[in-house]
Order: sequence, then structure tokens, then C-alpha cells
Amino acid sequence: MTDCYAVIGNPVEHSKSPQIHAAFARQTGQDMSYTTLKSELEPSKFSVTVRKFFDEGGKGLNVTVPFKHEARKITIVAPGDNAYDADAVNTIKLEGGKLIGYNTDGIGLVTDLERNLGFPIAGKRVLLMGAGGATYGVMHPVLAKHPESLVVANRTLEKAVTLVRHFRKFEPFTAGGISALPYPDLAGAQFDLIVNATSAGLSGEMPPLPPDLCAPGALAYDMVYGRVTPFMAFARQCGARAVDGLGMLVEQAAESFFIWRNVRPQTAPVIAMLRTGT
Ligand code: ATR
Repeated sequence: MTDCYAVIGNPVEHSKSPQIHAAFARQTGQDMSYTTLKSELEPSKFSVTVRKFFDEGGKGLNVTVPFKHEARKITIVAPGDNAYDADAVNTIKLEGGKLIGYNTDGIGLVTDLERNLGFPIAGKRVLLMGAGGATYGVMHPVLAKHPESLVVANRTLEKAVTLVRHFRKFEPFTAGGISALPYPDLAGAQFDLIVNATSAGLSGEMPPLPPDLCAPGALAYDMVYGRVTPFMAFARQCGARAVDGLGMLVEQAAESFFIWRNVRPQTAPVIAMLRTGT
């Protein structure tokens, strides 16, 4: 029998996940369907929609905006999983009648950076912009790769300070430590890897970055995909290599697919398919 999966969110119609998982299923010969599932915004409605999906035989869900934090509350999360530290779940699997939660966003970013883009994080000065859910999702996996230092910059400084406090226990993973800064305080600093985890690019904006931020050979990564954002254009002007988040999207999906099916799909052909639209 065909196993049913879906991505739940609001809005969710635009999601590329059905296309990605259909490609993975074709490639690996898995008998599964993958659709979108829209939930009303109230948390109680979200949990009812999730339970109905599994009661009707669903095997697994991806969770997208704005429900990742809510999904954490209705799933069991292993302390070793990224969902535990991120306090957010993007993948749910029905295991022995229980809903188990995982977060594959961070591994998606790290795999895209290191394997697809050939950019090892170890020893790099990293700047992460934004202090919302997207940043929480990637903090531990990035720190686990031992960057030289990690700065979190955010428009609203308190949110960056709270976030850094939340991840303080991982500070020994870096030689230079973790800090929270407002954008103006970045003046004079240089970074090897700059990740835009803000939603600014979606509205054609960018965080207020000082010039000369990019070290020679720097990589600028915008988690937004499918467009050249103002941040990417800025980074290219600074001489950095700038990429969008399409690879992260496909890599986090591949990790979810592996959790559900215990089969690892090839991601390069799927990234290429989405880039060329074929
Ligand atoms: P997500 O879960 O996708 O991270 P979020 O929790 O709403 O979404 O967080 C959005 C992030 O983008 C925040 O860090 C926000 O900064 P503030 O905390 O100061 O609001 C950041 N952001 C959004 N638009 C921005 C802009 N134009 N310039 C800089 N930061 C922006």
C-alpha cells in the first residue's frame, strides 16, 4: 500500500516539498505519496489536523511556517536530536504509535555548505543574521562543525542575546566564542561565512550591514531561495561568493526522507531539476 506523507503549514500551497519528495521517491523506487496539508493558524487546530492525518493512516509530516515550535510541543523528541536544542520540529514520524519529532534544517544547511558548496565550517569566522526560528534551527549543527567564532546579529538585540544564552552550552565548540551584536557593531569586523537567516529577503530588503564585512574568499548564504536577494547582491559587490538556500531546502528534505524511509536519495539531480525547472 502507498504510504502517505505531507507538508503541513499556512501558507503551504507554494511549497516545493511535494516536488522534491516525488523526485526522491521516483529515484529510490519508494511507494509513497506526498501532498500539502493546510492547517488553520490556532495551535489547537494544528494539533487536531496533525492527529487526524496520522489517524487516517499518514506515516510522516514535514512541518513548515508557522508551526515548527507548535510541532515540538506535540511530539516526542530525543535529547540528542537537533529539534531538542532548536525547540522546533520540522519532521514528524509515526513510530510504534507515537509521534517522534526531528529537526533536519541545520543538517540541511551544513550539508549544502560543506558537501555541495565545498565550504568547510571548521575554523571559519561565522556571522548568522537573524534571531528567529530559522536561526534556532541551525545553531547547534553549525557550532558542532567547530567554527573559529560565531556572531549572531539581529535588529532587535534582546532576541539575539536570548538566543545566544540558549546555546551557551555549546560555546566550547568554538575557540573565539559566541556573541550577540546589533548590526552597527559589526563595523570593522570580517567574516568568512555570512548566513542570512532573516526573512528580510522575502520583502526585497536586507539587514543593515556595514561595508567591508566579507573576508577574502567569503561565502554569503541566504536561506531564501529562488531569487537574488539584496543581501546576495551586496555580498557579490563585496567580492564574496553568494548563494541562495535551494540546496538547504533539498538537503533538509533528503534527511527527512532518510528518517522516514531509511534510504538516502541523491540530492544533486533534484537541486539541478529545481534550478532549471525541468
Ligand atoms: P523565522 O522563523 O523565519 O526565523 P521570525 O521568527 O519571524 O521568522 O524571524 C524573522 C527574523 O528576520 C528576525 O530575526 C527579524 O529581526 P527582528 O527580530 O529584529 O524582527 C529578521 N528580519 C526581518 N526583516 C528584517 C529586515 N528588514 N532587516 C533585518 N532583519 C529582519
